Formats: sequence, C-alpha cells, structure tokens
Amino acid sequence: MSHGRLVTIEGVDGSGKTTLAAGLADALLARGLNVRVLREPGGVDGAERIRELVRNPAIAIGPRAEALLFAAARAQLVEEALQPLLQTGVWVILDRFVDSSLAYQGGGRGLGVDEVAEINRFATRSLTPDRTLLLVVPPEVGRSRARAREATLDRLEREHDDFFDAVAAAYSELAAANSDRIRTLDASEPPERVLEAALVQVTDLLPPRAETPDR
Ligand code: TYD
Repeated sequence: MSHGRLVTIEGVDGSGKTTLAAGLADALLARGLNVRVLREPGGVDGAERIRELVRNPAIAIGPRAEALLFAAARAQLVEEALQPLLQTGVWVILDRFVDSSLAYQGGGRGLGVDEVAEINRFATRSLTPDRTLLLVVPPEVGRSRARAREATLDRLEREHDDFFDAVAAAYSELAAANSDRIRTLDASEPPERVLEAALVQVTDLLPPRAETPDR
C-alpha cells in the first residue's frame, strides 16, 4: 500500500489557510485521491481540549507552557490520526503544524526556533511534511481579516503588532532555510488564484494520472 502525503498550510492569522485547505482538498479528491483535512491545534478530542485551554484569554499561560501545550496537542494528533492516516495512503491537508510553533512560540514569543524545534521533534517523532504552503499576506491585512471574522479575539489574537511582525519574520526565515519543503504563496491574491498556485506547488507529489491512487 502506498504511503499518504502530508501537506501543511501555514501563515499568520487571517491569511486564508482554512479556505485554501478546503479548496485543495476538493481539487485532490477530484483527482481520485483519498483526502482528509485536519487542523491544529485540535483534530482529535484530546487536542481539541488543549485548543480550548490555549485560546482562553482568562487563563494565564507562560510562553514555555504555551509551547509545550501546542506540542502536546500535536503529539496526540500525530499518534491518533496522522500516522494511521498516512500509513493507509491518505493525503492529509493540515491547517498548521510544527512551523506554527516555530514562528509563534520560537519567533513571536522569543523562545528561539531551535529550542521549540527540539520539543517538537520529540512530540512528532520527527514527522515532517512532504510539502508546506506558506500563505504570505501583509500582517495588517491578516489582522484586519481575522478581527472582522471573530466576534471575540482569542488569547493569541490579542497580541500586539510587534508579535505578529516577529511571527511573519520567523516564517520567512523558515521558508528561506527550507525552500525544498516550504513554498510561499501570495495570499493577497483572490482565493481561486491562491488555489491554482498551491496546486502547482504540489504537482510533483501527485501520482501519475493513469495510475490508481492507492496502488
Ligand atoms: P486558530 O484558531 O486555528 O487560528 P487561525 O484560524 O487563524 O489559524 O489557531 C489558534 C491560534 O494558535 C493562532 O493564533 C495561532 C496559534 N498557534 C500557535 O501559536 N502555535 C501553534 O503551534 C499553533 C498550531 C497555533
């Protein structure tokens, strides 16, 4: 049985990750692939509970605890969902993964990308995406989209512009250092153009059209 593929979608809040995940899943389904969309933090019950905890502005959580909570949610998702799905040939489109922690906790919170990478290697048993699509949008555009969408801002969305600038800077450094895996997309384009560009960036992972997808 073939191994599935892990495609992660990254970017600041309001960059359009969820829209792209849904569009990409439909396009891959239409090619006969077996596709699942999951999101972080969350995706499985234990991780969804941690999601509620980290987003709650009424609960004090320091940067190190925050990094460990995201990593704990991720460990559960990897073990309970990602590994079994990938082993049975499913393509998983994942809205945020380790790069979110590297950018938000490593960059935004200033914990350092290497330190945060280390706890994530432990959490994920070094599971690495086959491809990562990084949606890049000017931070203030992302912020205003995210604000317009949410009636109440979660604990991270309440951060100052400096925090989001540091997150965006960390993302672009990661993209520069991992150009094989991380492909940058201009997310200020309309959603259908972003989807087209995303499909181009995963073409080399697709099985040849004549083959059955789960051979
Ligand atoms: P989410 O509510 O999914 O936001 P969005 O829909 O904008 O992606 O994510 C919750 C917040 O958690 C978001 O502000 C990004 C943050 N986050 C981290 O700081 N580190 C992480 O490892 C992950 C997965 C998310």
